[in-house]
Amino acid sequence: MKLIVGNWKMNGLTPALEEAGALRQALEADPVNARVGLCPPATLIAQMAWKLGAGPVELGGQDCHDKDSGAFTGSVSAPMLADAGARLVILGHSERREGFGETDADVAAKVEAALRAGLEPIVCVGESLETREAGQAVAFVTAQVRASLPDALKDRPFALAYEPIWAIGTGLTPTLDQIAEVHAAIRDALVERLGEGGRRPPILYGGSMKPDNAAEILAVPEVGGGLVGGASLKADDFIRIIRAA
Ligand code: G3P
Repeated sequence: MKLIVGNWKMNGLTPALEEAGALRQALEADPVNARVGLCPPATLIAQMAWKLGAGPVELGGQDCHDKDSGAFTGSVSAPMLADAGARLVILGHSERREGFGETDADVAAKVEAALRAGLEPIVCVGESLETREAGQAVAFVTAQVRASLPDALKDRPFALAYEPIWAIGTGLTPTLDQIAEVHAAIRDALVERLGEGGRRPPILYGGSMKPDNAAEILAVPEVGGGLVGGASLKADDFIRIIRAA
C-alpha cells in the first residue's frame, strides 16, 4: 500500500482546516487503497485532529527537537506532536538541513526522539543540483541514508523520502530512470544498514509531484509513495495525487 503524505511547510492558518475537512470527506466518500498523511504547521495539528478525528488521514509534524522537554525556546518536542494527535513526523527535510544546518547526526537524534514518542519518522534525503550534475547523487544520498538512521529504527515502522533538492518547488523532476536508480540504491542502503528489516520501509518520492505526473512516478519500482508540498495545499489537487497511487 502506497503512503502519500502532504507537507504544508510554513503555510496554513485556521481557515485551511477547510481543506483538511474536504480531504477527509472525499476519502470517506470514496475510499482509496493508500495510506494518507497530512503534515500541517504544528500550530494546526491539534485543531486538525479534532476536525479529522480518527478518519482516514494520519496527521504528522514537520520536525521535532531531539530532546523530549526542556529549555529550548520555540522548539516542539516529539511528545508534544504525539499529544496534539500526530502519528508521523518528517525529519531531515532539506529545508532544515540547508536552512538550519541540520547534520545527519542531528537527524538521527531526532529520529530516536520520534521513536521514543511512538511517532513514525519520515526521514528525508536528497542531493543538490551540483551533486547531481557531478554524477554523485547516488553516493551522496546513500551516505545520508547510512548516517541518518539510528539502530533504534530496527523493527520499527518508518519511511524514507527521496527529495532531490533541485526538484523541490521548481516544477522540475528527475527522469523516471533517475528516480528508479536512486530508489533502488536507497533500498540497498536500507538493507545494508538495517538487515532484512530494511526491505519494509516505503521510499517516498518528493519534489514537484503533481496530479499530472504522480501516476508515472508512483509506478516506478521502489517508489512506495509521495511526499507532496505545494500540490497538497489544495484538497482537490492532493486527492488527484492520492487517487493516482
Ligand atoms: O516535503 C515535500 C516537499 O519538499 C516537496 O515540495 O512543492 O516540490 O511538492 P513540492
